[in-house]
Amino acid sequence: MPKLWSGLASGAIDAAAEDFNRSIRVDSRMYRQDILGSIAHAKMLAAQNIITPEDAEAIVNGLNGILSDIDGGRLTIDPEAEDIHTFVEQTLTERVGEPGKRLHTARSRNDQVALDTRLYLRERVGTTAELLRGMLRTLCQRAGEAKSMVMPGYTHLQRAQPVTMGHHLMAYAMMFSRDLGRLWDAAERMNVSPIGCCALAGTTYDTDRELEAALLGFDSVSANSLDGVSDRDFCVELGAALSLIMTHLSRLSEEIVLWSSWEFRFIRLSDAYSTGSSIMPQKKNPDMAELTRGKTGRVYGDLMALLTVLKGLPLAYNKDMQEDKELIFDAFDTVDACLTVTAPMLGTMTLLPENMRRAAAAGFINATDLADYLVGRGMPFRTAYKLTGELVADCTKAGATLEDLPLEAYKAKSELFDADLYDAINIDNCLMRRTSLGGPAPESVERQIEYILEQIQ
Ligand code: ARG
Repeated sequence: MPKLWSGLASGAIDAAAEDFNRSIRVDSRMYRQDILGSIAHAKMLAAQNIITPEDAEAIVNGLNGILSDIDGGRLTIDPEAEDIHTFVEQTLTERVGEPGKRLHTARSRNDQVALDTRLYLRERVGTTAELLRGMLRTLCQRAGEAKSMVMPGYTHLQRAQPVTMGHHLMAYAMMFSRDLGRLWDAAERMNVSPIGCCALAGTTYDTDRELEAALLGFDSVSANSLDGVSDRDFCVELGAALSLIMTHLSRLSEEIVLWSSWEFRFIRLSDAYSTGSSIMPQKKNPDMAELTRGKTGRVYGDLMALLTVLKGLPLAYNKDMQEDKELIFDAFDTVDACLTVTAPMLGTMTLLPENMRRAAAAGFINATDLADYLVGRGMPFRTAYKLTGELVADCTKAGATLEDLPLEAYKAKSELFDADLYDAINIDNCLMRRTSLGGPAPESVERQIEYILEQIQ
C-alpha cells in the first residue's frame, strides 16, 4: 500500500525503518473505534456541508461494510499497514473510490488516534469494572460464610488480635471497591472528545465538534486543540488505577500463598486453580496467586513507562506517544487476566476453620482483652499491660496459654482477677465483643458486606 503521506517524499522508506515505525500490531485492536469515529466524522462533515450527503452515505456504507467484514472474518487487517487509521482509510477508498478520499477532511491522525484510544479505553474500563464487581460479589459471599471463622489477625506477621476470615476478606473488598471508584473517576475525566483538534491547530473548516462528540457519546469536547492531541494523562490515570488494583491483588495473592501453605493451612485451593509439581507428588502449588503477584511489577512498569514517555515532550504530537497504547493495553490485559482467575480461585477455595481456630488459640491474641479486663476493674491500662505481659512470659516459659493458668496464678498477680476472667479471654467472646464500627464481630462484618453489595448494585 502507498503511504498515506506519500506526496512530499519520493524516496522509499527503509524496510526496517518502516517496520519500526508501524503500530498496526498494537492498534489494530481499535478497528471498531476507528471505524465508528470515522462514521461520526463523515456525518458531521455532511451536516456542516463540508462534504455532500451522497459522499457521506458512500463513506458510511463503506465503513459499515468494512466493520462487518472484519467482524465476520472476511477482511483481514493488513499487518503491513502503517497503522489502523491508514488501513481503514485506504480500504475504504479501495472500496468506494473518490468519496473515501474526502473522509480525512478537517481531521488528522493526531486527533484520530487520541479519539480512538479514548473510545477503546472507555470500553475497557467497563470490562475491568465488571470483573471487579464479580470479585466483590465473590468476596462478599465468602466473607458471609466466614464471618464467624475466628483466625488470628496479624501485625508484622505476628499473631496480634482475633479477627475472622470474613473480616479479613472484607478488608480486600473495601480496597477493590475504591479501585472501582478510581476507574470510574478516570473514565469520567477521559470522556472528553479530542476529535476536531486536527493536527494541533484546529481547522479553518466550519466543523461542529460538539455534534461529533455527541454522536460518539462524549460528555464534552477538549477546550484547547494543542492539549487535545498532546496529552495522554488519561492513560496515566488509568495506569495508576490499574497499578493499585494489582497492589491489592498482589497482597491478597501473597496471603493466599501463605494460607495455603502447610505452615498456615487456613485454606485449600481447588484443583481447578492450582497446579502440581513435575517431581514432588505431594505438591499443590498456588501458581495463579504467585503469577498474579509476579505480574504486578509488569503493570507498575507500564505506568512508569507511560509517565516517562510523556516526560519532557514538547507540544504537540510526537511519535513517542505511539508507545502509549502498547503500555496501557498491556496493563488492562494483565489486570483483566489476573481478575479473571483470582475471583473464581477465591470462590472455589475450601476454608479450613479448624486450622484458623487452632492458630487463634495459640499466640496470646487475647492478651489485650486480658489487660482490658483489668482496666474494666479500675486498673490503669499501662499497669494492666505490664502485668499481662508478665503473665504471657510465665505462660511462654510453662508452654501454656492464658486459658490454662489457674485462677490462683492470676490472683497471685492481682486481687482484681476473678473467675469471670476466663469468659473475658475466651476467643469467641473476644471476637463477639469487637462490635466497634468496621470491627470483626459477625454483625459488623454483615454491615460491611451490605455496604459493598449496595455499591455494586
Ligand atoms: N500510529 C500513530 C500513533 O499511534 C498515529 C498517529 C500518527 N500521527 C502522525 N503524525 N505520525 O500515535
